Amino acid sequence: MIRIRLATSADEAQLLELVRAFPTPTPISADTYSRMFRSKRADPYACIAVAVRDESLVGYLSGHRHSAFYAAGDTAWVDEILVLDTERRSGVGRMLMAEFETWATEAGCTLTALATAGAADFYRALGYATKAGYFKKYLANGEPR
Ligand SMILES: CC(C)(COP(=O)(O)OP(=O)(O)OC[C@H]1O[C@@H](n2cnc3c(N)ncnc32)[C@H](O)[C@@H]1OP(=O)(O)O)[C@@H](O)C(=O)NCCC(=O)NCCS
Repeated sequence: MIRIRLATSADEAQLLELVRAFPTPTPISADTYSRMFRSKRADPYACIAVAVRDESLVGYLSGHRHSAFYAAGDTAWVDEILVLDTERRSGVGRMLMAEFETWATEAGCTLTALATAGAADFYRALGYATKAGYFKKYLANGEPR
């Protein structure tokens, strides 16, 4: 059975393996990950949710909230979500998103949003609609490797 919960300090090492499986041109070092994991866990504006099967992490979602005038309040942003290949298409991603939406709703957010290249059908199935293009530019600190 899959259980969804917020990440605890005990998840740090195992979560790194999933974080490293997320497709990105800017892979993370163990030191940077550790610093960020601890800081996000202590940050009421950040959310890390995990999916667990038999003590093993099989998926995660990392997001945050911030205030935005256009949203007339806080908006919750999904930074990344990943489910292990072997666990896909069985509702784990949907459950992680539901956990994030609950976290955002309880924090008073007015909307939740994200950018995606390859998972548009997943988000559409969850009721998300596309409204604006997403642009990004890497700064000197984040040149893709
Ligand atoms: C996107 C991702 C998180 C979805 O996780 P998942 O656990 O497979 O999703 P779910 O099983 O909860 O899917 C819910 C619904 O979304 C839709 N969906 C999910 N994956 C889909 C796909 N590859 N193609 C079409 N529809 C899809 C389906 O309607 C599905 O319901 P169904 O299985 O009853 O048809 C997973 O595919 C993944 O980790 N991908 C790699 C990382 C990534 O691209 N993350 C998103 C970028 S931010």
